[in-house]
Amino acid sequence: MRDLTLTARPVTEADLDWIAACEQSVLRFPWRRSAFEASMAAGHLCLLALDGAVPAGYSVCMRVLDELHILNIVVAPDFQRRGVGGWLLDETISRAGDLAHGPVLLEVRVSNAVARHLYLSKGFVEIGIRKDYYPSDGRREDAVVMCKERQVAV
Ligand SMILES: CC(C)(COP(=O)(O)OP(=O)(O)OC[C@H]1O[C@@H](n2cnc3c(N)ncnc32)[C@H](O)[C@@H]1OP(=O)(O)O)[C@@H](O)C(=O)NCCC(=O)NCCS
Repeated sequence: MRDLTLTARPVTEADLDWIAACEQSVLRFPWRRSAFEASMAAGHLCLLALDGAVPAGYSVCMRVLDELHILNIVVAPDFQRRGVGGWLLDETISRAGDLAHGPVLLEVRVSNAVARHLYLSKGFVEIGIRKDYYPSDGRREDAVVMCKERQVAV
């Protein structure tokens, strides 16, 4: 990894101020702190990526039957374009291996070319559109649904 020493651990309550601030700085329509609290309470896998001791990003995913749904993945501005997003995506899917063994699914804004590029580069394919899925300024924005099949050991 480009000059970084990355690890990941489960998010704790003490991380939520930093995470909420990061959401505000990176996203036009951020998750509220309460959304992260609800995810943690529901047992979703919430991971914090660290470079040494410095928080660099986070992800949230949940099991739906045998599928893994990635609900959120964000890299802090200072760490973007340094490979953290790709690393965290791989790490999240790997760590969620015990949660679900089927396909990995996610939604992404049609306009989010960076994230769509990242997911395509990690083997996701675009499988559909959810009309008007996201809030947007004065109107709604479609989501692209993306899916990655996982190799099943035989
Ligand atoms: C999407 C996001 C997680 C990517 O994280 P990142 O750490 O910057 O991504 P990486 O450095 O791992 O790069 C992944 C790929 O995206 C490309 N990329 C990253 N930032 C880019 C940019 N601004 N413009 C063009 N391509 C970009 C990289 O070139 C890389 O592709 P490559 O491996 O073919 O070279 C990050 O931009 C982010 O947090 N965005 C805001 C939140 C968000 O949109 N999350 C996704 C919601 S579905």
